[in-house]
Amino acid sequence: DKDVNMKCNSNDERLVDAEAGLVDRTVFTDQKIFEREITEVFGKSWLFVGHESQIPNSDDFFLSQAGRDAVVVTRDSDGEVQVLLNVCTHRGMPVCRYDQGNAKMFTCPYHGWTFSNKGDLTGLPLAKEGYCDRLDRKQWGLVKARVTCYYGSIWATFNDEVLPFEETLGDMTLMLRDFLQGPDGEDDGLEVVDGILKFEIHSNWKLGAENSAGDLYHDVSHNSVQRVGIALSGLRGRHAWNADKHTFKTLNVAYPEGGHAARVNLYDDEQREYHSQWSQIPEVDDYFREAHDARQKRLGEKGRLLNRGGIVFPSIAYNSANRWQITLAVPRSPGRTEMWKWYFVPKKAPQEVKDALRHYLLRYGGPSGMVEQDDIENWASAQVGAQSLAAQHLPMNYMLHMGEAKWAWPVPWLGEGAYVDEGVSEHAQRVFYQRWSEMMGHPVRSRGQEESK
Ligand code: FES
Ligand code: FE
Repeated sequence: DKDVNMKCNSNDERLVDAEAGLVDRTVFTDQKIFEREITEVFGKSWLFVGHESQIPNSDDFFLSQAGRDAVVVTRDSDGEVQVLLNVCTHRGMPVCRYDQGNAKMFTCPYHGWTFSNKGDLTGLPLAKEGYCDRLDRKQWGLVKARVTCYYGSIWATFNDEVLPFEETLGDMTLMLRDFLQGPDGEDDGLEVVDGILKFEIHSNWKLGAENSAGDLYHDVSHNSVQRVGIALSGLRGRHAWNADKHTFKTLNVAYPEGGHAARVNLYDDEQREYHSQWSQIPEVDDYFREAHDARQKRLGEKGRLLNRGGIVFPSIAYNSANRWQITLAVPRSPGRTEMWKWYFVPKKAPQEVKDALRHYLLRYGGPSGMVEQDDIENWASAQVGAQSLAAQHLPMNYMLHMGEAKWAWPVPWLGEGAYVDEGVSEHAQRVFYQRWSEMMGHPVRSRGQEESK
């Protein structure tokens, strides 16, 4: 409306005006803003680093990322999960250079300092001759993160002041727990398909993150795959629910306090029947039918909800409902992001179900997946647009369905913190940028040498 367009042309110095649905292009391109994100956003959030099924045995470990920092995630000799900064305290070398394995110790390849899988400095070459046995080993252990294990997932932060994990999630716990429990509703219902898929995209990390927060608008991008049809059922369309005979509303559920969001289907029928998604492989279909029926019984009215995916702020995207995955956007520079994908299968499922899901996930996502190729191309091209000189005066537009969201949506089990909009909307993206702006201290346009705060 008129107000919206007036704001668009105003001299507002803020980089984000979430209420007006406007985001300045420099938030995707500016090096100073990026550096500030590393400390203010990634440095002050709980970050997903992996899953317990990657380290089932004592002394297992794998490498991961906490924001820009490389970490080693270990199950130590006492069975506890540790997240250790993969930076030698002597002079900065990574102490572990294997993606995964089993080790009680990590010996730095530079000068040989050795650390236990709890992070303690246990081996010091020339300890007596060179340091007169006086180097305080306690002080020189690996930097350790605070760790939370949540329904099999592992989260870390190096910041002592960040609130406990569940407090930062708020009512988003409902969505995350539902995803992590998998179709069988077990406390640790999922296991990782071995081999984390990693690839680089030439775009800012926020372009992928905001898309996962709830970009239902971009379906046109995937038109070619819609026509070919790669749904599990073999039907046209990407998603089994496209052919679902039940009626449902699509909700964009945002949790503004933490900046998290989820896309859910809310079905009209309380006890909706199983909709066949795997008719081509009867054994797999049987498994999902049984899981569906058991879930409906277990959840009662809450079974009306189908949790399709979303984002834990800032950059941890998940998908559920027909493929279980977490995609982590690892920030490298304003225009360079690594995407790390964890594919999951239900732990209790028979092998043929796990195989069928794995094949589907590979067909769908990653740089060679038929659907995600479209997204990667979008983000890389939008990054070029964000850098355009002639368009610098024009903010990016997130105005779709503005002013329609409601608090206290009449679905009590979405939680009181849920701020909900229905249908195709950029509501969740506005919430995402509002939270980003708060964490960044509401940055304003930089002029010349001024800091961008
Ligand atoms: Fe690790 Fe010197 S940098 S021992
Ligand atoms: Fe997409």
